[in-house]
Amino acid sequence: MAKIVDDGVMHQDLSVITEIGAYMVGVSILGLIISIINVYVSSRAAIGFGTDLRSTLFEKIQQLSFTEIDKFNSASLITRLTNDITRMQQVILMGMRLMLRSPLMLVMAVFFVIKINTDLALIMIGAIPVLGISVFLILRKGFPLFMKVQQKLDQLNAVVRENLINIRVVKSFVREDFETKKFEKSSEELRDMVINASNVVVSIFPVMQLIMNVSVIVILWVGGGKVMTGELKVGELISFVNYLMQILMALMLLSMVIMNVARASASSERILEVLNTEPSLENTTEGIANTHKINKGEVIFRKVFFRYSGGENDVLKDINFHIHQGETIAVVGATGAAKTSMLQLIPRLYDTTAGEVLIDGVNVKDYNLDELHAEIRMVLQKNELFTGTIIENLRWGKPDATIEEVEEATKAAQAHDFIMSFTDGYNTLRLQEL
Ligand SMILES: Nc1ncnc2c1ncn2[C@@H]1O[C@H](COP(=O)(O)OP(=O)(O)O)[C@@H](O)[C@H]1O
Ligand SMILES: [Mg+2]
Repeated sequence: MAKIVDDGVMHQDLSVITEIGAYMVGVSILGLIISIINVYVSSRAAIGFGTDLRSTLFEKIQQLSFTEIDKFNSASLITRLTNDITRMQQVILMGMRLMLRSPLMLVMAVFFVIKINTDLALIMIGAIPVLGISVFLILRKGFPLFMKVQQKLDQLNAVVRENLINIRVVKSFVREDFETKKFEKSSEELRDMVINASNVVVSIFPVMQLIMNVSVIVILWVGGGKVMTGELKVGELISFVNYLMQILMALMLLSMVIMNVARASASSERILEVLNTEPSLENTTEGIANTHKINKGEVIFRKVFFRYSGGENDVLKDINFHIHQGETIAVVGATGAAKTSMLQLIPRLYDTTAGEVLIDGVNVKDYNLDELHAEIRMVLQKNELFTGTIIENLRWGKPDATIEEVEEATKAAQAHDFIMSFTDGYNTLRLQEL
């Protein structure tokens, strides 16, 4: 640019202009090609990263015990699996495009600026720390707010999830308005929190704009004086302002990346929190080595106490009983008496707080967990269907069940005729009303 102005325009030499112009076009085309490669590579990398992280997180969630799932709550786990990971994915994409390019542009531009004129360059370099400090201060204030935004998102997801799962109850009690208000309240809280966080962060841009404009004016003023005394050529001043714009643009893009990194680091903390959680129920060393098999199904509770983690009271206190092989037992009690809690201790979905649960004389902790879970069948109060056909759902617990076995079970449950009433019979796709 400086050469075009000083050698071409000033000396009215068109050949210099075409020659350097052609060179500039060539460099731009090269830049374009590299940009395209960069976009392709960084997109693939970011999407691959997101996919890998999602699988890892999902696998981790599968390993967690009820206690940890209770602690995180499922709505929050869904947000972490979706929104939080997407946020990180975006930052990786953006980072790969700008993290190398912006600092490189910055360094090169500063180098050329110093080469043109050291005095002028010093003015400009003075602006950089001012910019850096303001960005830092703004981000330090913004980070905790981003964390809160994600938490509000969790709450919103919890409301939606609860509502959709219980939509029949909501409709039959005509509580749609009530539920809508609940949703709106949660949605407005999220909005306010986002506005709150954004207000802090977007203040970066006017601040940068101001610093940028002030530096341009100072450079033009000081540089203009130098042009008049002949110390600087006009073309040099033009390219100087051009470099200045490049530098400030690079800084602006860089702070945009940093801002998004700050936002994503709230997300990454939430993901790491899950990844770093160890399931509280694991195979004990005995459990791994052990090959105990349940064959009689004798259950003994010995001085069992149980309390949910975070709970204030023991829900089970000093429970003792002995169920012999082949016995059919009914446990009757008020709602909340801890019947379900007691039952969940048998397949070791939770560990006792004190005392022991024995099956066939062996402590449940000494069984291999997979073995234990596979050998004990539970029919819960509330059953969910998975995506797929009726037969796929029926075979969910035993993928190799023969059609005879399946029919035997559905006939016993008086479901066979009902299933056969569909045109597709056992191959009917899941219907919500089932
Ligand atoms: N996941 C949980 N976390 C904390 N407390 C729970 C949990 N599940 C049940 N409770 C509490 O434990 C007690 C017993 O509940 P539960 O075993 O479901 O009773 P029941 O099946 O007899 O109706 C209740 O006070 C209930 O609030
Ligand atoms: Mg119950």
